[in-house]
Amino acid sequence: MSAVLSPPSPAATAAEPPLRVRDLSVVFEGAAGSVPAIEHLSLDVAAGEFVAIVGPSGCGKSTLLKVVSGLVPAASGSVRVNGQLVDGPPAGVGFMFQRDTLLPWATVAENIAIGAELAGLSRAERPARVAELVELVRLKGFENHHPGALSGGMRQRVSLARLLAYQPAIYLMDEPFGALDYQTKIVMGRELLRIWETQRRAIVFVTHDIEEAVALADRVVVMSPRPGTIVAEHRIDLPRPRDPRELRGDPRFGAITRRIWSDLAIVD
Ligand SMILES: Nc1ncnc2c1ncn2[C@@H]1O[C@H](COP(=O)(O)OP(=O)(O)O)[C@@H](O)[C@H]1O
Ligand SMILES: [Mg+2]
Repeated sequence: MSAVLSPPSPAATAAEPPLRVRDLSVVFEGAAGSVPAIEHLSLDVAAGEFVAIVGPSGCGKSTLLKVVSGLVPAASGSVRVNGQLVDGPPAGVGFMFQRDTLLPWATVAENIAIGAELAGLSRAERPARVAELVELVRLKGFENHHPGALSGGMRQRVSLARLLAYQPAIYLMDEPFGALDYQTKIVMGRELLRIWETQRRAIVFVTHDIEEAVALADRVVVMSPRPGTIVAEHRIDLPRPRDPRELRGDPRFGAITRRIWSDLAIVD
């Protein structure tokens, strides 16, 4: 074999990350004029990476997720999902909101089956997948309940199972546990990590809770007030697997959250 190293071929270059946002600006046109919501925002999310976005209320966090999911158009710049330019709802992007969007008249199992159907599973394949997910999110015994008969935390478990059933390449989560009480929120964070650690899909997780962001994410991105742009980024190299309950007493955890608090204070 020749000892001469050949230059890397184009095929050897790393594939584009699941999410690439480049110089994105978003403007809402209203009766009172135009409102710039996001300005010159760039962000890459790598395969399997857990990115949390924090920022003051109204800074454009939800808007960013809506642009990624093709619900709101970019005024300028670009969003690419798996290398494809987003100009409508892209395949492979799944959404979870603070308020669950479960069908109230359908059972837990039927709600989860919707995700499996969207993922292209045949009618015959769905029950096994649903049963597996019910087990994973610890809802065994509640398959035939309706959402109205469940607590807020259990409804978010159903939403999570439906999202998992869809098997998106990117999970967009907009304050998914924001409406839950403190303890349930911590439990759900731990559950999300447990599941994510087995699947390692890219997650963009929006929250205004800095501690939640640090406890869960590989990287925390801080946005400025509207028009939102990224003003700081912190790599969270706390060891995994993590237990969000125990982390809160870790001095490294305290140090990172304080730094992020000061980022937010600077841009306030
Ligand atoms: N559909 C819309 N029309 C007009 N303005 C909007 C619309 N959606 C959001 N905005 C404005 O854009 C800004 C960012 O909103 P949003 O992304 O919801 O903020 P966040 O999720 O960070 O709290 C806010 O000032 C909000 O009022
Ligand atoms: Mg929001």
